[in-house]
Amino acid sequence: MSKPVLLVTRKLPVEIEARAVRDYDARLNPRDEPWFRDGLEIARRATEAKAAGVLIAAGDPMNAAAFAALPDSVKIVTTFSVGYDHVDVEAARAKNIIVTNTPEVLSFATAECAFTLLLMAARRAGEGERMVRANKWEGWAPTQLMGVTLEGKKLGILGFGRIGQKLAAMARGFGMQIHYRDLRKLPPEVEQGAIFHETDEKFLASIDMLSMHVPGGDGTRKWLDATRLAQMKPGSIVINTGRGGSVDDQALVAALTSGHIRAAGLDVYDGEPKVFPGYLGLENVALLPHLGSATIETRDAMGERALQNLDCVLRFDLPPPHRVA
Ligand code: DGY
Repeated sequence: MSKPVLLVTRKLPVEIEARAVRDYDARLNPRDEPWFRDGLEIARRATEAKAAGVLIAAGDPMNAAAFAALPDSVKIVTTFSVGYDHVDVEAARAKNIIVTNTPEVLSFATAECAFTLLLMAARRAGEGERMVRANKWEGWAPTQLMGVTLEGKKLGILGFGRIGQKLAAMARGFGMQIHYRDLRKLPPEVEQGAIFHETDEKFLASIDMLSMHVPGGDGTRKWLDATRLAQMKPGSIVINTGRGGSVDDQALVAALTSGHIRAAGLDVYDGEPKVFPGYLGLENVALLPHLGSATIETRDAMGERALQNLDCVLRFDLPPPHRVA
């Protein structure tokens, strides 16, 4: 029997591409050419290849127009990401196309990234690194680049799902007290002592550091705006490894400039790979290029998960384990 045709929009880890080539008539993008930035171009290539499946990744714009242009041969679109805010799931449903993602396997890595940013922001690591590289360091000084400790601080986790819970476990090791905000209070075995807040206002007023783990999309658009920033204690820290659109960049830059927010650490941006220009000149913000899940182990596991979903639909006629539409 001939292998199903699989269009892959991005360069993937070597072993994942090898597995895709073994089990599919895989059309790869080995040089990561940027045609993946255009949903209509993805659909055009899927049509040309008569693809049965399309393996996309975080940010590939699979919007309504792209789904409308996909050929009927396409049964499944699987995204190499847990987030699927770049996928119009309603449009997929309307065309009877299955959509899957890669949850769970990236929770620890993303929490690690949030924790990295938390330490960078609290301990001014980016500033220190820039100072050394610029040859501006004149030696140890009693008041140089003093940050704040995490020990004893209240960490507020917005979105206490898999990633938020992993971050809480790491933060407990640093002697932090965990507070959280979610749609509802979670069972005690999940909370493990974390304190639930019923309102944003109480949550924000209670914490010293905020780590955001909410999906993108209209429901969370510019959630952290000027009003909510003002509800935070002076000298608080803001971390975002969820989606860039949930921060009002102008408001955060103003709060960082005034010092009301001591420091921030960002891994995600509204309209990536664009970065809001106001951040670039600020010393008190650590900026990473969407590295949340970027460990060798995690990217391999994400690839395996994407292929597992494809296998179920295209090779074994089974329900895929991580279906979102
Ligand atoms: C995701 O999986 O949604 C991340 O943002 C990319 O790893």
